[in-house]
Formats: sequence, C-alpha cells, structure tokens
Amino acid sequence: MAVRLGDEAPDFTADTTDGELRFHEWKGDSWAVLFSHPKDFTPVCTTELGTVAKLKDEFEKRNTKVIGLSVDPIEDHHEWAKDIEETQGAALNFPMIADPDRVVADLYDMIHPNASNTLTVRSVFVIGPDNTVKLTLTYPASTGRNFQELLRVIDSLQLTSERKVATPADWTDGDRAIIVPALSNEDAKELFPQGWEEQKPYLRLVDLNG
Ligand code: BEZ
Repeated sequence: MAVRLGDEAPDFTADTTDGELRFHEWKGDSWAVLFSHPKDFTPVCTTELGTVAKLKDEFEKRNTKVIGLSVDPIEDHHEWAKDIEETQGAALNFPMIADPDRVVADLYDMIHPNASNTLTVRSVFVIGPDNTVKLTLTYPASTGRNFQELLRVIDSLQLTSERKVATPADWTDGDRAIIVPALSNEDAKELFPQGWEEQKPYLRLVDLNG
C-alpha cells in the first residue's frame, strides 16, 4: 500500500552496510531521509550515493539521518561501495539497506510495476521526529535526483513545523516566508512584531530575520 503524507513511516528490521538495524530505533527522534535506488553497479545511482556522502555535514546540520536502499544483496553493496569511493571521491558514510526479498521496498511501495516489476524506482521519504512522513518524491531510474533540492525542502519542512508560515515558490533559507492564511492579522502581530508586506489579505510576506 502507498505510504502517504502524514502516515507513520513503517518500521522494519534490515541488513545494511552498517549491520542489522531496526529503522525506528536507528532513527530515534531525528529527521530521516529514506531513499531507494534501482540497482547496484549502475551509473546514475553511483553518482547519487557519492553526492549524498559529500553532503554529510549538511544533513547533520539539519539533524537528519540518511539511509539508502537497493534490492541487491549486502555483498554487492560492499563491493559497489569501493567503486563509489573510487569514482566519486567520497566513501559511503550512511547505511545502505540490502533488500533482496523486497520487504522494505514493498512496505514503502517502491516498486512501480509499470516502470519495472523487479527494481525499485527512485523514491524519497522525508520522515519527521514524530516518525510521520513529511514528504515523498518519486523519480524514474533514468533521472538522478537533485539533493540540493532535498536540503531546501528539509529546511522548509523544519521551518514550517516550528513557525506559522509556509514557504513560497523557489524559497531558500533566509528568504521571506508566507504567514499562513489561517492566522488572523491580530494574532500575526504577536508572532511577527517586525511586521509584514501584505500583497493580498491572503498573501502576507514576512522577513523572519527582520
Ligand atoms: C542508473 O542508476 O544509472 C540506472 C539504473 C537503472 C536503470 C537505468 C539507470
């Protein structure tokens, strides 16, 4: 069954390149990114894993743990890790789940039969400290993901979970945010004493650093 926004992220036990782990226990009360790959020893996946390894500090800054998955066996993951380090200049520094029986892939609906009956698509799940799913993305095998966009989205998710704001198109951290329409001007004055620009009654932009 599909895993949707707001659902509890299914728990599982899995064999990973860092040893066996239980997902919720490993995650604790951090944020987490669970992302799947179609196959080991494939070019796009190799670049993606190197890119994520290089972003370790960025994920840590955001209190976010990262875990990858592919349906190949653990021995392949260990072999492939050598290629990733050699070609991408960064060694795997997060666990990769080996899911040859597709237990996790099925739990998270990562196999899309009209794309492939056997391989996972490029799924991404961002999971909050409360273990609920905050974001899902699905890319085809042929398109590598943009991990700067993933960091940007995590910034937005974390901001909007703490403040009564939403973030506009193409927002990046530090840009003005939108005061949520449900908040009255009276209540907004208390939360945003710096004021805001009202372009329409429903479109109020606030500088959170102002
Ligand atoms: C890749 O990661 O390069 C890839 C994987 C499966 C199908 C096509 C490309």
